[in-house]
Parts: sequence; C-alpha cells; structure tokens
Amino acid sequence: MRIVHTIAELRQALAGATRSAFVPTMGNLHEGHLSLVKQAKEHGGPVVASIFVNRLQFAPHEDFDTYPRTFERDCDLLRGVGCNVVFAPDEAELYPEPQVYKVQPPAALADILEGHFRPGFFTGVCTVVLKLFHCVQPKVAVFGKKDYQQLMVIRRMVQQFALPIEVVAGETARADDGLALSSRNGYLSDAERAEAMHLSMALKDLANSLQHAVRNGPSLDLPALEQQATSALAARGWQPDYLTVRRRADLLAPTDDQMRGGEPLVALGAARLGKTRLIDNLEI
Ligand code: PAF
Repeated sequence: MRIVHTIAELRQALAGATRSAFVPTMGNLHEGHLSLVKQAKEHGGPVVASIFVNRLQFAPHEDFDTYPRTFERDCDLLRGVGCNVVFAPDEAELYPEPQVYKVQPPAALADILEGHFRPGFFTGVCTVVLKLFHCVQPKVAVFGKKDYQQLMVIRRMVQQFALPIEVVAGETARADDGLALSSRNGYLSDAERAEAMHLSMALKDLANSLQHAVRNGPSLDLPALEQQATSALAARGWQPDYLTVRRRADLLAPTDDQMRGGEPLVALGAARLGKTRLIDNLEI
C-alpha cells in the first residue's frame, strides 16, 4: 500500500490506472469504513482511500480541532483490507489558498435535515469531495448509507456536473446492539454507549408505527408519529434534532397517498446524547 501526501504523488501512484475506486474518509476508521473499502475492491481496479479532516464542513463550534486523528492505526487497518493507495493531504496541499470557489448544493436537498441543523455542512462536503474527485479521478466512489443525505447530495452533484464516476452506496455497519458505527461513537461515555442503541430503536419504532397506521388507517398523521418518537427519545435524556420519515427519492415529506401506495421511504434521525451528536437512518 502506498501512502501519499501530495496531489503530484497521487497522480504518479495512479499513473496508467483507468478504473480506480475511491473511498473518501476523515480517518479514525472503523469497520464501517473498512466495509466500504472491501466493496470498492470488488470493482477490480486499485482502491484509493483518502484521509482528510475537512475544515470546510465543520461549523466554528463543532469538533474540527478535537476530531480524532489516528493516522498510523488507520493506515494499518487500510493495509489489512487490501487498500492500494492512501491519499492523506494536509490542509496546505488541499487548500493552498482560501477555498473561495465552492459547490453550493440545492437548498431543497441540502438545507433540510442535516443541512438545517448544520448550515453550510453540505457546501463543505461537496467542495472537498469534488476536489478529491479531481485529484483521484476514480471510476467508482463508495459512500456509506449511514450518511444518507450526504450520499444523495453527492449523487446529485455527480449527475449535475456529469462527472464520469459511478457512486456506489455501502450498507451501514452496526454494532451487535444495532448502534450504527461512527467515528463519533468514541466520544460516548460507557453509560452513553449503552444508551446509544436507542436512536436506531426509535427509528424502528417510528417505522413500525407508520406501517401500523398505514395498515389500520383511517387517519395517517405522520407529524404526530414523528412527534411521539421524538418525545420518547427526549424522555430518555436525548436532545433530538429530528426524527422523521421522508421519501427516499428526494428526502421530502411523503403524502398520505404515497405512504399508502408503497412509496420507498426512509426514517432519519439525529439527536444529541450528552455532548455527542449521532445520526442514523432506516429504509422502510
Ligand atoms: O463522510 C465523511 O467522512 C466526509 O463527509 C467526507 C465524505 C470524507 C468528506 O469530507
């Protein structure tokens, strides 16, 4: 496995490779990232993983400075799953001057849910991902469904800019109790870690109560079901930002007819447990 820190070294490492597969990360890797790398390997070409904590996607009050940097361990893990190239630029390499050209994703998709609670987040994500795409020039890029909205925002960006990249979705890796694996799980105390599975359980309960309401009608008050799920989580000591059911196609609220007609839906949730903000989702 080659570890490169500059765009020039990366281009040299990939010279002649026409079908590389790319997994962008911010490091502090876990099984979820490794499963994306394994999925990337199925495409046959060299697999490139990037490790770059992207300042542009953090608000000033967020955890950019304290985000865990575990570079040596990350490289060992990537080597273990057969990654071919690690691209780990520093900020001076990726942002040699202030990044004033930015990708602004559409508000209808990017200013809701995560984008509502983290203004500017998807501009930061799209900007770095577009830049990384230009550096790596992959044929395939693998993104986890754990960050469901991110995956959709990136898919649209690739489509709108006609980038010759296939975006592939990786399933969310979970701990035995159902907690979605996340780099931020490391912030949880033991007691919070034992509680953390209740976010995925709340999404399951929300999905079940919606399915029950669809079957047993006549009234289908989705906002009331969402409110119930939110209050139940809050009663356990969480501070929920949202628990909601949306259409998978565009993350907008489904109509009653769509809910009854089998429209593909997804339950999405974000909530703070102590100081740690967790997100999760469940396709319905
Ligand atoms: O999902 C992440 O880890 C980041 O948002 C990404 C895609 C690596 C961009 O910084």
